[in-house]
Amino acid sequence: MLFFFIAFVFLTFLSVFLLFSFITLVRYQSFRKRKIVGPKPEFPFGNTRKSTLGIQNLIYDVDDSYQLYRNKGPFFGFFSNFRPFLIATDPEFIKFVTMKEFNKFRNNNTVINPTKDPLLARSPFRLKDDAWKSKRNETTPVMTPIKLKGIYPLVRDKTQHLIDYIKREIEADDTKIFDARNICTRCTCDTISSLLFDVDAKSFETDSIYYKMGEGLIRGVRNAVKSSMPFKKLPKQVENFFKTTAMTSVKQREENKIERSDLLAYFMYLKERKGISDLDLVGHCTTFFLDGYETSSLVTHHILYELGKHQDVQQKLREEIQQEGDDMSYEKLFELPYLDQVFNEALRLHPPLPFATRVCSEDVEFIDKHDHKFEIKKGDVVWVPLHSVQRDPDHFSSPLEFDPERYNPENGGTKPYAEQAVWIPFGEGPRKCPGVKFGNMQVKTAIVEVVKNFIVFVDESTVDSPRVGPKEYFNATGDKIYLKFKNVNENI
Ligand code: HEM
Repeated sequence: MLFFFIAFVFLTFLSVFLLFSFITLVRYQSFRKRKIVGPKPEFPFGNTRKSTLGIQNLIYDVDDSYQLYRNKGPFFGFFSNFRPFLIATDPEFIKFVTMKEFNKFRNNNTVINPTKDPLLARSPFRLKDDAWKSKRNETTPVMTPIKLKGIYPLVRDKTQHLIDYIKREIEADDTKIFDARNICTRCTCDTISSLLFDVDAKSFETDSIYYKMGEGLIRGVRNAVKSSMPFKKLPKQVENFFKTTAMTSVKQREENKIERSDLLAYFMYLKERKGISDLDLVGHCTTFFLDGYETSSLVTHHILYELGKHQDVQQKLREEIQQEGDDMSYEKLFELPYLDQVFNEALRLHPPLPFATRVCSEDVEFIDKHDHKFEIKKGDVVWVPLHSVQRDPDHFSSPLEFDPERYNPENGGTKPYAEQAVWIPFGEGPRKCPGVKFGNMQVKTAIVEVVKNFIVFVDESTVDSPRVGPKEYFNATGDKIYLKFKNVNENI
């Protein structure tokens, strides 16, 4: 009896495996049948053997193929295991998908089960069609220049925690080595927690619960991207933390009639005037926490790395900042040309999100500049490989060099590159990142304060050209970046 049972289970598994393999192998032929060029997939990895085995990040699997196919049509076919994607290589095709034919490419392709993950599912990033539009419309008014100017003093105030921390540590030990990502994330954690929950997150203390939950949130997002299975991605403890923290802050403000000009105040306004639910309010808080925590900290740590590597750039930036005296106004923060060039060049080399994605909802034809026609079918998923496009030698001379001078104001800054859709760290079109100014403000505030106070060095224990970690979704280096700081005045 036992023998028959084992044989039955074995045969069932074998049949499912064979069926799955057959379907995958047929699927691997699909691009060839449609005359779409691309690297040959191998079962069961597709074109992502190295990233599947944890040898390198998906960014590099895509980039390896991008290098081979970047001049062979507007896009190429690529399999992430058994899932097919079209990787965009031609900037005209990028504009076509993100702007010109946006109505046929409105949605991203992340899979979140709204019942299991109600908070992650409420981000505009993951919503589709009208639900996306309405959530995005709720999000954008809080990021207008006037609103951001209102919260800028808080951002400056909390960024000071980073400066105080570095000062304390180097006073105790002037050879101290800092993990760049760690200190930058603790800094954004303090800022965003204050703007959302009116709390001092004490992120520079080892047992900060806000910092721990921020890291938990990143794990949830990583799970969401790695797997298309509709099971729960965000750890329950993290979800409960955001629900309790947000609702406790709301209650305190309501009971004590506290008025504050910050993000939570705006979400409470939405609840009162537009009737959004408590869960919607917590969803907004989670979206802002995630984006204000991770993306901005990644950009900051990459800028510090590049400044440490390029002391001439750092000194030039310091001189620009010092000219403004001690009190950097909100307006000035956005007006400093060299600061902007440094920021934009770091975003080119290290975009925190390596891909933008769009799902085709209706068959459509793309005609390239040679009048060749390409069919994109309903259900096709297009990836715009921001990392690869922004390092393409056809678009940027010496593309691997950190060179803020390429955006000199007399050359038009980033405008000519953005117009060609080859400098696109915030994505493009109606789904472009709504947090552009917010991210600018967070990152530039931190850079101004650090450069004003310290000379930044990359410690020699940092590997040359650190690479994105194999398991990361965001552009976070797997090899740590270690920094050293010296008081600016010591050098005079
Ligand atoms: C410098 C930092 C940042 C960078 C480089 C960045 C980059 C991006 C990119 C590439 C996308 C995808 C765009 C597309 O599909 O075309 C995106 C989407 C988004 N970002 Fe950002 N982001 C940053 C900071 C922020 C901040 C601070 C917030 C909010 C506090 C934010 C909120 C969002 C939202 C809500 C979306 C989804 C938009 C939609 O699908 O409609 N981002 N971001």
